[in-house]
Amino acid sequence: MLTRREFTGLGAALFGAAGLRLPIWRGGLRAVSGPTASSERPLLLGVDYYPDQTPEALWEEDARMMSEAGLTNVRVAEFAWSLMEPSEGKFDFAWLKRSVDILHKHGIAVILGTPSAAPPPWLTEKYPEVLMVNSEGMTVHPGGRRFTCPSNKTYRKLSLAIATEMARNFSDTAGVIGWQIDNEFTLQQFGRCYCKYCREGFQEWSKQKYETLDSLNQKWGTAFWSQIYTDWSQIPVPLPSNGPPNPGLELDYDRYQSHANASFAGEQLVMLRKQCPHHFVTTNSVGAPFDSLNLRELFRDLDFVSNDNYPGFAAMFMEGEITPERIGRSSAISHDSMRSVKGGKPFLIMEEQSGKAGQPSFGPQPHPGQLRLWAFQAVAHGAMGVNYFRWDTARFGAEEYWHGLLNHDRSKSPGFDEIIRTVADMKALGQEALESSYVAETALSFDQDCDWALQIQPGHSKLTYPAQLMEWYDAVAGANTGTDLIHLDEDLSRYKAVFAPVQYVVSARQAENIRNYVRNGGMFVAGFRLGAKDESSQIVNMPLPGLLRDVMGVTLKDYVPIYSEKVGVAFEQQLAGPEGQCGLWADLLIPQSAKVLAKYTGPYEGAAITVNTFGKGKAVYIGADLDGASLSRVIHSLLETAGSKSEFGTPKAVEITRRRAGQKEWVFALNHSNEAQKVTLPGAFASVMAKRSVERELELKPYEVAVLQRS
Ligand code: GAL
Ligand code: ZN
Repeated sequence: MLTRREFTGLGAALFGAAGLRLPIWRGGLRAVSGPTASSERPLLLGVDYYPDQTPEALWEEDARMMSEAGLTNVRVAEFAWSLMEPSEGKFDFAWLKRSVDILHKHGIAVILGTPSAAPPPWLTEKYPEVLMVNSEGMTVHPGGRRFTCPSNKTYRKLSLAIATEMARNFSDTAGVIGWQIDNEFTLQQFGRCYCKYCREGFQEWSKQKYETLDSLNQKWGTAFWSQIYTDWSQIPVPLPSNGPPNPGLELDYDRYQSHANASFAGEQLVMLRKQCPHHFVTTNSVGAPFDSLNLRELFRDLDFVSNDNYPGFAAMFMEGEITPERIGRSSAISHDSMRSVKGGKPFLIMEEQSGKAGQPSFGPQPHPGQLRLWAFQAVAHGAMGVNYFRWDTARFGAEEYWHGLLNHDRSKSPGFDEIIRTVADMKALGQEALESSYVAETALSFDQDCDWALQIQPGHSKLTYPAQLMEWYDAVAGANTGTDLIHLDEDLSRYKAVFAPVQYVVSARQAENIRNYVRNGGMFVAGFRLGAKDESSQIVNMPLPGLLRDVMGVTLKDYVPIYSEKVGVAFEQQLAGPEGQCGLWADLLIPQSAKVLAKYTGPYEGAAITVNTFGKGKAVYIGADLDGASLSRVIHSLLETAGSKSEFGTPKAVEITRRRAGQKEWVFALNHSNEAQKVTLPGAFASVMAKRSVERELELKPYEVAVLQRS
């Protein structure tokens, strides 16, 4: 059987703890703010480059070719620790300095990566205690990457030391503009360590959070299975123990791991702010639904969010079932989640697929036009720049099959010309467009507490948060009116409708925020399992949906996991339409003040969907796990009621997004299919890249991207 962590890893196939930031080590992090106003930052349309893996004789040619291709920058050195510190305390940056100088001479700016994602062999040989312990309690071996512990003080000290030496050496080097701390902290199951240093860190963190053992024992409910702790040192980490762990402890452990990684990054950030006050600092992540850490915590003090975008993964994992629209949607959700981490601020694609991608098997060859489409899709969703992974293709190492802009023999890859044209078009589009704001009329809750709590206790063996999130996202995003992925304690007032699939954990603060939003005229649409748990992962001691009963105007008669029986859903009132199917779960609703919009057709009694008028707004409870087509129909009908309807008429394969700066608006039309498509337009537009005007109808060629401005 798969462990839940492995499942998340694979669950790839489907595609945080809000506000909690207690210092685990005394003296925590100072709030640190960044230097560069966006106007001082050059455009970031570059590549990830590996001079550490390339003979020096080729560096000049590389820089010249990059410059001729119109690229503006590189990211380098994030995996070059063993060259930069060949033995403990002996540093060698001369080679990197030579490389930076050559790049600078050719007008290519440099983002430096601190190398803590992969320490050199001397380090793990000398300090084996830095190695990560996995969820089975086994020490992870060196030889790969992301195999170290985020809490271990020796590893923190050594990581900070190399980063500090780098910073000192490059703070005034012409051409260096910014930093990436580490590499992909959040990549799936590698975001968790269960070693004794993490255990000590968790004990300390728990002490800060709960202050007394009495309080901790109560919140975790340790009376169950004789787990009452009488000393902080007894608190375990959730390793195999012949029975499921305490759910409160495990949810807190997820929060602690998130915190440990954020504070690991924070140490390097504080140093970089001091040493390099004129450089920007970021780190790269992977976006929903794959992130295993609370990104709001990780990115809180960084200048902007960076995302790594590999749409080809979706095609690999969903072999056979994949459609072009689904590939598009799987990247869209990742971009939307990353943009939302910093309240809509433009983000950077730090790594963008540039060809066949694979490790150790090749993924599919992107079709002509797809590489351009995917990069423009990132911009359409709020990116301010794109760095392609990678410049050349490695002839050795674990990623020999990951194609860059140059082939193994350094000839131009099949995507080279397309990429260069794309970069030129993005430049022509200009900084104002690339730094403009994404327009989102609606929001979807993406709540790591719910994700983690549901991994710990899915309630139904097939129920996963990422799958539910993806289904709802598909329906909401399909309306083409723009969707942010938010936390429910953020400002909701700017959205016409807010959607919350399996909002299993609801805090008092979130409930109050939702209540005010609806009272003031918003539309809140929740899925089944709403408000079943509090933040400590205890089941609430009141009828469901717990704290939101008044807003939703219903109580639950019962909740039913569904296995082999067929449960139909009959729609009525404004939702009247073909009967739907209920999949994994049915909340049986009894309306109090709400109206019924759908009922179960048996064997269970009760309403399946209700709508309640609360204050000036509406609250809709979708108690059934609806089949995709019904969910999409229901959500579209609700969006229309909420006044969120696109003015553009699109077939399914076409995605529309908008970005705005002051009075200016850019409309992106993206054809994800390999067939021509037609979009109906609400007036006359200038097609910016095609340099022509279009009226009423826009024809898009296979995989074509158009950027429109109203004329
Ligand atoms: C990313 C990672 C890169 C490279 C790339 C392709 O996740 O940051 O270092 O591994 O994927 O596999
Ligand atoms: Zn650890």
